[in-house]
Amino acid sequence: MAIDNKLIDQFINVTSKASLAASYLVGKKDKIAADKAAVDSMRTELNNMNIKGRVVIGEGELDEAPMLYIGERLGSNNGPALDIAVDPLEGTNFAANNLPGALSVIAVSEKNNLLNAPETYMQKIATSVKEKNVVDLDFSTKKNISNLCDYLNKFPENLYACIMDRPRHYETINELKQMKVNLKLITDGDVSGALLVTDQKYKIDIFLGIGGGPEGVLAAAALDAFNCSFQGRFLFKTDEDKIRAKEMGIKDLEKKYELNEIISGDSIFCATGITSGDLVSGIKIKDDYFISETLVTHKSTGFKKKIKLEIKI
Ligand code: FBP
Repeated sequence: MAIDNKLIDQFINVTSKASLAASYLVGKKDKIAADKAAVDSMRTELNNMNIKGRVVIGEGELDEAPMLYIGERLGSNNGPALDIAVDPLEGTNFAANNLPGALSVIAVSEKNNLLNAPETYMQKIATSVKEKNVVDLDFSTKKNISNLCDYLNKFPENLYACIMDRPRHYETINELKQMKVNLKLITDGDVSGALLVTDQKYKIDIFLGIGGGPEGVLAAAALDAFNCSFQGRFLFKTDEDKIRAKEMGIKDLEKKYELNEIISGDSIFCATGITSGDLVSGIKIKDDYFISETLVTHKSTGFKKKIKLEIKI
């Protein structure tokens, strides 16, 4: 059963309105307020939809998040049963400091087709190459780059990698530099970073490194629709994190997840710009309407497009 494509417009509306709500707080140095504005709006709009929705990735668990918590039921309870992953404000620092790349993101699958990701880190790798054993989380950086170069028929100096600029990546960054791979270092926003492999115009051949687990699942939903590859492995710091993950149904804590184990079946993904970035433009307000730009995918119909909307405020 596919997800009705009539729902696409409604999900674009959800992330557009959340982006608008957050946009009023752009540059105000208050990431909590900006996040709250996006969360409140997203929850209200999702509750207006005729769906039987369940949050599988949200703002945290019930004890720590009053809204859009994992397990929260959304919608009128009439209509299709959907798993919903949300990141109402991806890139809270970007929004608080008026920097490029803040997004409002949602991914939706049919019930039980989206991995319930705990609030922990995930080691990730993404490319546009679908073939197995070209890049793999279990290969060294050197092997991944050399395989990718062979496959793409490129020299490392013509290859581009995107990775978060974090001390935990210094070793990998140094290895990439030694191999003369071109680097795009990002300060935040690794959903967007991973999605740069989806189109040659972004000039990124590989995305790699450690970022948020929930962000990994959201990126995987779009990468699936773009027929790209993604692998992820959760990383747990504390015993408490491990216990929580087990309670969420993760049996093997060291498992390497393939894309189709993170998301399967049909899906819809929407990412609307709050501030303009690599993927989409930010919110623009003109008189009594606003303009949003959303990257949208719908797996079953092959729909992949940036949609600009003018909505009355
Ligand atoms: P927030 O929007 O929650 O601030 O997350 C931004 C982000 O950069 C994600 O894109 C990324 O997955 C994660 O933070 C990385 O975490 P850390 O800042 O701890 O390295």
